[in-house]
Amino acid sequence: MMDQAEKLRKIVSEQLEQDTRQTRNSRVITITSGKGGVGKTNFTANLAIQLQRANKKVVIIDADLGLANIEVVFGIVPQFNLSDVIYGRKTITEVMTPGPLGINFISGGSGIQDIINLNNNQFSNFINNLNQLDQFADIILIDTGAGLTDSVLNFSKAADEIILVTTPEPTSVTDAYSLIKVLCKNGLTQNIKVLVNRVDDEDEGIEIFNKLYRVSKKFLNIEINELGCIPYDRALVKSVKLQEPVCISFPNSEVSRAFRKISYKITEYSADETTNSGFTSFVKRFMNIFDRNNY
Ligand SMILES: Nc1ncnc2c1ncn2[C@@H]1O[C@H](COP(=O)(O)OP(=O)(O)O)[C@@H](O)[C@H]1O
Ligand SMILES: [Mg+2]
Repeated sequence: MMDQAEKLRKIVSEQLEQDTRQTRNSRVITITSGKGGVGKTNFTANLAIQLQRANKKVVIIDADLGLANIEVVFGIVPQFNLSDVIYGRKTITEVMTPGPLGINFISGGSGIQDIINLNNNQFSNFINNLNQLDQFADIILIDTGAGLTDSVLNFSKAADEIILVTTPEPTSVTDAYSLIKVLCKNGLTQNIKVLVNRVDDEDEGIEIFNKLYRVSKKFLNIEINELGCIPYDRALVKSVKLQEPVCISFPNSEVSRAFRKISYKITEYSADETTNSGFTSFVKRFMNIFDRNNY
């Protein structure tokens, strides 16, 4: 009798353990910008490093259709990309490339565009693969291209949060505002976090954020969130040449400390917010968007 009860308890507890493991939901954060060259890719790579140092498991998806960026910053050339998953040649785990400190990254390649052309079988195979990512990451960072493209919009719609990167340059700020406007028109009024990169000092960062905050409030009636700022630092420029994230090459530089501060802020957000819906929901939302675009 006791034996039986013991056995049952064991089965239930194993089941529970498995359930918790399976329902571990990753936070999906899309990194985007109005204008190109503002520092998105370096931000993504270094944020990943600092989050990983804070014991968060990070997977990066490089979804910039034009340029393979993350691999350049990491100095690692991946063998496969999302296309291989889409056409069933590889599983998602096989296209994950190990980067520094145990970060995994996935190169989008032409895969992002190919999604539209899949037949039902290929499609469900692809989705099954993507869903597995939830088990590998606490946080999934998606580095997108710049501008008001469908791809940027789709990734933003599907993600839990959007980080919008701008610099203090007027053209970059104007383009950031245009993107906020488009996001807003698409119902994405919450969870837009603004990061001001390449500032001279913190005051400049605050000033630029306040400007964007005021116009968004006045003309769009939305409140954007302040993620903070990252200084202009030659250490970062040097690290780009070394093809190594600055947080690894120069961990004590001003810019690396700023990345660490932002990573803390992001983990704090995750403690307050319960909006985390995991990669599975990301995939669902993503696919809904494609359906709608298709028909
Ligand atoms: N905080 C910074 N300090 C100094 N230079 C920077 C900084 N952020 C970006 N840069 C410069 O801008 C270039 C473009 O950055 P990148 O991350 O590739 O932008 P994006 O992905 O938005 O196109 C980098 O190669 C680097 O020279
Ligand atoms: Mg880039």
